[in-house]
Formats: sequence, structure tokens, C-alpha cells
Amino acid sequence: MNSNTIILKTDEEIEFMREANRLVGMTLGEVSKHIKPGVTTLELDKIAETFIRDHDAVPTFLGYGGFPKSICTSVNEAVVHGIPNNTPLKEGDIVSVDCGTTTKCGYCGDSAYTFCVGEVSPEVKRLLKVTEESLYIGIAQAAEGNRIGDIGAAIQRYCESKGYSVVRELVGHGIGRKMHEAPEVPNYGRRGTGPLIKNGLCIAIEPMINMGSKNVVFEKDGWTVRTKDRKPAAHFEHTVAIRNGKADILSTFEFIQGTSN
Ligand code: MF3
Ligand code: CO
Ligand code: CO
Repeated sequence: MNSNTIILKTDEEIEFMREANRLVGMTLGEVSKHIKPGVTTLELDKIAETFIRDHDAVPTFLGYGGFPKSICTSVNEAVVHGIPNNTPLKEGDIVSVDCGTTTKCGYCGDSAYTFCVGEVSPEVKRLLKVTEESLYIGIAQAAEGNRIGDIGAAIQRYCESKGYSVVRELVGHGIGRKMHEAPEVPNYGRRGTGPLIKNGLCIAIEPMINMGSKNVVFEKDGWTVRTKDRKPAAHFEHTVAIRNGKADILSTFEFIQGTSN
């Protein structure tokens, strides 16, 4: 079995993954309580790491490919993989918080939400709203008998119709005992292409949507991906399992509070 092999999960494994993803949702909820002007992303990282460990789990990102922190915090023009640092967030910023946990049973959760810091401009709020909507539009395509390309085609069509662009360099992914498994799940593409979607498939769907052009650059810190034009980007992610023919969303935003988007 090579890394291109899609590992379908049993119902029992899916329940383990629901547990890991519920903890991710609770962690995003805990972090959300602290998002306000003046807080640093390093403080948010510490809150997340402590919360995850207090719940008998491990922050999946810490040490993953050498990533130095427990969450990714990507501010404004940073699209994904921002490293928590000492810079205080300020009124009008947006910050994507991406979180992963591995629980005792050995399965991973992965989910991300882009938060407003204080009051944010209407233009940026609209970017967040459209990106979150596109996540659910993509999830609706994650149904038995469809193809992986149907997900990205729907996300791309919707976001481009609103005047935004879709990042090409990064994609969603299969998930299970490892955070990144086959298949790749692009946020762009053509209907009817890619692997067939079957019951037991577990994938992370994660639109990365730019207000300006689709082009990104990889920063010299080795991780941060930012928009080339330095316009804002948004990122929302859910882990889903295909069960009884349709997507069962395993992660959750239900614990998130204090956001107006
Ligand atoms: N969770 C990210 C994703 O959505 C990957 C983070 S990579 C890490 O796929 F190194 F930061 F962990
Ligand atoms: Co993620
Ligand atoms: Co992911």
C-alpha cells in the first residue's frame, strides 16, 4: 500500500475521528474566547496546546514536518501555515486558526476557522462569509457516487462568481491515523474528474480563498503562505466522513463565540 492508496474507514474508526474532531472544535471555541485586539498568536497557541493536552490528546501540528507550534495562525494576507508569534492582533485584522488533534485512539482531527479581531471592514466580512459558504457548498458535493473534482468545481464556481480567487498550491486531503492521507482534495477543478467518492472516505475540505489574485508566495520562515498582492485571504476547514451516501461533518464550529461573521 503506497501513499496514493485511499484508506476507507469503518464506522468504529469514524467514531474515533469524531472524537478527535470534536476536541478540535472545542479548542477552536476556547481560542475564540481570547481573540481580541492586543492578544498575540503565541498566547493563542499556548491556550490551544494546554487545552488539547488537558483533554488527553496531542496537538498534531507540533513537530509535524518540523512545524514549531501547536496551531497555525494566519493573519490578513497570510493564507495558511502562519507560525504563532509575538505580534499583537489589532482591531480590523482577520486570523485563520487551524487546529489538529490526535487522541488516544490514534486518529486525527483537522479544522480551521477565520476570525475577526474586533470590527472588520464590510469587504473583508464578505470574504469570510463567502469562503465559509463555499466550504458547505463543497461539503454538499462530498456524496457517494460523486467524484473528488466535483467538490473543488463547486467551490471554485461559487467563489469566482463572487469575484474572489482560489489558491492552487494547497489542497484539502484524506485524513485518518495520519493528518494527510490520499486523496488530494483541490478547491478548484472540473466536475466528473478525480477519485470516486465512497462510503468510509474521510477528507478535510478546506477552501483557501483570496480577495485579490490567486497567486501566493512562500515566506522565508519556511511555512507561511501569503497572497502575492498582500490582499486578505480566508480559510475554513472541516473534516467530513462519507456515511450512508453523504457527508457527515465530524468537526464543528458550534463552540465558537464572539464573531459577527
Ligand atoms: N492542518 C493543515 C491542513 O489543514 C496542515 C498544517 S501543517 C502543520 O492541512 F505543519 F502546520 F501542521
Ligand atoms: Co487544517
Ligand atoms: Co487540513
